Amino acid sequence: MADPIISVRDLVVSYGGRRVLDGVNLDIQQGEVLALLGGSGSGKSTMLRHIIGLERPDSGRICVQGVDINNCSARELKALRRDMGVSFQGSALFSSMTVEENVQLPLRELTSLADPVIEIMTYIKLAAVGLGDAGKLFPQELSGGMKKRAAVARATALDPEILIFDEPSAGLDPIVAAELDELILFLKRAFHMTVLIVTHEMASAFRIADRVAMLYKGSLIAVEDKESFRASNDPRIRQFLDRIPERIAESESVQRRIRELAGVTGATE
Ligand SMILES: Nc1ncnc2c1ncn2[C@@H]1O[C@H](COP(=O)(O)OP(=O)(O)OP(=O)(O)O)[C@@H](O)[C@H]1O
Ligand SMILES: [Mg+2]
Repeated sequence: MADPIISVRDLVVSYGGRRVLDGVNLDIQQGEVLALLGGSGSGKSTMLRHIIGLERPDSGRICVQGVDINNCSARELKALRRDMGVSFQGSALFSSMTVEENVQLPLRELTSLADPVIEIMTYIKLAAVGLGDAGKLFPQELSGGMKKRAAVARATALDPEILIFDEPSAGLDPIVAAELDELILFLKRAFHMTVLIVTHEMASAFRIADRVAMLYKGSLIAVEDKESFRASNDPRIRQFLDRIPERIAESESVQRRIRELAGVTGATE
């Protein structure tokens, strides 16, 4: 098999003495879409921040395109950053800038392209996500779905090899979320991009991902193709997939407590 485009080895991260990532290993191949799953607080965003080199781990090694991101020159790091398009949890657009200016930001910071070229590239990126007419608007004038699409346009501004998305469809209505899934699949097909995506939406993960990885208590307990993940017998995965919280809500003790509370407020069925 070819060398992985992203390779994570024995990654350990602690905050205030508490281990959040406890020896994580993961290889991502060029051109694949990998969905990273896990409960809230399991360390998904932390892992992404380390993969893009925003934070240094306690120990372990992260290589992107064969370069150790915690042990390379400033020039190599800048080149790597150009090759990674990132959209963080929430769209994180700058509210004082228009949509156009937001998309132009990486082009201005990381390239020395002339203004007219930047303007044309910005327009192409916005048109590709269906925001060709929205460039002059400010983020607060956009709907939630439009904001996410603008964030995708900004992440793809530099034609990166790798796209890293942290919950791009959180809070979107199902139709807009599905559109975003198709947009990601289009980017993969058209530009052979590698996509690492954190999502809580199972339908979305199973639609777009080639493989699925799951974080649980600081470790990756699964990295496999989505069919075998879906059929897994691992109780930790089943609990996640079958949404045990819903079953807990139906449990006798919870129901009893609800009846008690209803008695207190005098509510009747
Ligand atoms: N900069 C930080 N300083 C201290 N603790 C942090 C920091 N970043 C994350 N943590 C802690 O690390 C754990 C993992 O956080 P992380 O944001 O990676 O979770 P997550 O899997 O992305 O969760 P969610 O699905 O809710 O976004 C949490 O307990 C969080 O409180
Ligand atoms: Mg997160």
